[in-house]
Amino acid sequence: MYRHLHHVNNRANGSVGVVGREPRSPADPTYDHAVIDEGRRLSFEARADEYRTARPPYPEALYEILVQRCGLGPGSRVLEIGAGTGQATRGLLARGATVVAVEPGVRLAAHLAADIGGDALEVVNDMIETAPLPDDSFDIAASATAFHWVRSEVALPRLARALRPGGWLAVWWTVFGDRTRPTPFRSALDRLYERTFPHAPRDPLTGPLNIESWRDELSQGGWFTRPDVEQLRWVNRLTPDGARRLFGSFPNVNELDPARRAVHLDAVADLVREAGGVVLDPCVTVLYLSRVAAQR
Ligand SMILES: C[S@@+](CC[C@H](N)C(=O)[O-])C[C@H]1O[C@@H](n2cnc3c(N)ncnc32)[C@H](O)[C@@H]1O
Repeated sequence: MYRHLHHVNNRANGSVGVVGREPRSPADPTYDHAVIDEGRRLSFEARADEYRTARPPYPEALYEILVQRCGLGPGSRVLEIGAGTGQATRGLLARGATVVAVEPGVRLAAHLAADIGGDALEVVNDMIETAPLPDDSFDIAASATAFHWVRSEVALPRLARALRPGGWLAVWWTVFGDRTRPTPFRSALDRLYERTFPHAPRDPLTGPLNIESWRDELSQGGWFTRPDVEQLRWVNRLTPDGARRLFGSFPNVNELDPARRAVHLDAVADLVREAGGVVLDPCVTVLYLSRVAAQR
């Protein structure tokens, strides 16, 4: 089922600058989820076709935690935030849940509905801050590598209302590259990124590992309990083509002009070739789990 509820401006190609909240802790340069870049937040839409095969699935251990702790399973109702092309949706559905997936990208949402479909999935083409949500209806609100694009101060009270009393908020990200497990490939990749982006920090997604910042953010306003955190360490298998697709799915690479983007991604693929054609790239998926504490 696919509901196109709102027309969403596709700003993927336009730079509208940074809007939204001011950084809460300007002294902390790693606190990078405090400002949402509107141009980037819908940038995945511009390469919706490629996104489908760019990002790997999440580890099975993550879904096991959701089953054991949050009751994910047949009969459970999940509200998914920022589903993209379904990297996490598939795992949730595979456990027997029904999923309402909120995704603002028109083409991403269309892919999601077409690729997965079925009675257990409803796709809502909207942002979580504005999507109409029924009250007291979900057991779990889940968001995979997407909550840094969400205005949490708007979304959290809405999610608390949409969840049943005692319902769970499960928010997670995969951070590609695990700084606790350095590899020659990652060292070479760092040097490449320093050349391509001499003025930018290397890791656009280290923000999820700012654990106390995220625990503060997710419990702000008292809607949810201060989250428990799990870090799942795993290894992503990269081929030259897979690495090109993965690194080509991040906003910083997609903001390069086409020629520089191609040079950069060719160089990424060459690094995998030089490493023997397959790289086992350590990753960490960080999961924040909290429960509804207040409803309005
Ligand atoms: C990095 S992608 C993650 C997609 C998918 N969940 C995954 O795990 O690969 C982030 C997604 O969040 C969506 N998104 C951005 N802002 C959003 C918002 N305010 N509400 C819901 N989704 C949003 C984007 O359109 C995009 O599909």
